[in-house]
Amino acid sequence: MSKQANTYRLGDLTVNRMGYGAMRLSGPHVFGPPADRAAALSVLRTAVEAGINHIDTSDFYGPHVTNQLIREALFPYRDDLVIATKVGARRGADASWLPASSPAELEQAVHDNLRNLALERLDVVNLRMMIDPMHPAEGSIEEPLTALAELQSKGLIRHIGLSNVTYAQVVEGRRLCHVACVQNHYNLAHRTDDQLVDELAREGIAYVPFFPLGGFSPLQSQILTDVAKRLETSPNQVALAWLLHRAPNILVIPGTTSVTHLKENLAAQALSLPDDVLTALEGMAR
Ligand SMILES: NC(=O)c1ccc[n+]([C@@H]2O[C@H](COP(=O)([O-])OP(=O)(O)OC[C@H]3O[C@@H](n4cnc5c(N)ncnc54)[C@H](OP(=O)(O)O)[C@@H]3O)[C@@H](O)[C@H]2O)c1
Repeated sequence: MSKQANTYRLGDLTVNRMGYGAMRLSGPHVFGPPADRAAALSVLRTAVEAGINHIDTSDFYGPHVTNQLIREALFPYRDDLVIATKVGARRGADASWLPASSPAELEQAVHDNLRNLALERLDVVNLRMMIDPMHPAEGSIEEPLTALAELQSKGLIRHIGLSNVTYAQVVEGRRLCHVACVQNHYNLAHRTDDQLVDELAREGIAYVPFFPLGGFSPLQSQILTDVAKRLETSPNQVALAWLLHRAPNILVIPGTTSVTHLKENLAAQALSLPDDVLTALEGMAR
């Protein structure tokens, strides 16, 4: 396999391509506090000590819990740490995921993120579209994106990204403001965005796949099991190594509550995938 660079840019920031997704650090169903707060803090500190400098979060994880854990574990932040957050959703009292993309709700969410992360400016704010909470769905993003761009012009946001968006929404978004990254569902088995990944790579825009390991439906495939066995590694490491190989603009943010799993995920950076393995893994694409 060709060797990719270990870093990529998020706007004018440079991050290691192996990042960390903090969503799982809050309680069950991404709601409330974690069962083991000390363990959550330890995962965050271990991640940064190991060289991770891109953490993905949102104030709607918990809500507020994940950001507060990040602040407790890592503040004052290392100069090179990039914290990417999301706005556009809120949580119901029953843990449901609800849209929250009016200009007033977006402004409130940006201030909530700033307060809970103890920041004066957010490095990256993804507009998380909720037309359909589960999948990208067509519809204009002009109103919420314009509102976010105004908050950026006030100095509260460094870079804007888009999440859970269609190809057409990325095109629309890029007409309205500078888009530093796109964060959509993508992994070995879920390849809807193949064309988008390649186009963004040509434009120098980061693509951040969420659910890199399958999220709430862990990747399961005989192909993956066989490949991992042959390479004497784990299926998750193969899945992450494949994403890092797939395109130079892919930044991975696997989520875990376990220091052991974190270290296993980090080790995927060193895993090379031979050409015949890459061909076999294509068999998982849907
Ligand atoms: N923009 C969006 O709409 C959106 C949606 C979902 C997620 N995200 C972001 O994307 C990040 C990644 O997504 P995700 O955390 O939901 O899914 P994921 O990274 O695909 O998978 C996380 C799951 O895999 C397990 N896991 C991780 N490493 C493992 C290992 N080495 N061995 C065995 N199991 C392992 C975790 O359990 P353990 O805790 O036991 O390790 C957890 O259950 C999130 O943290 C969040 O920041 C964004």
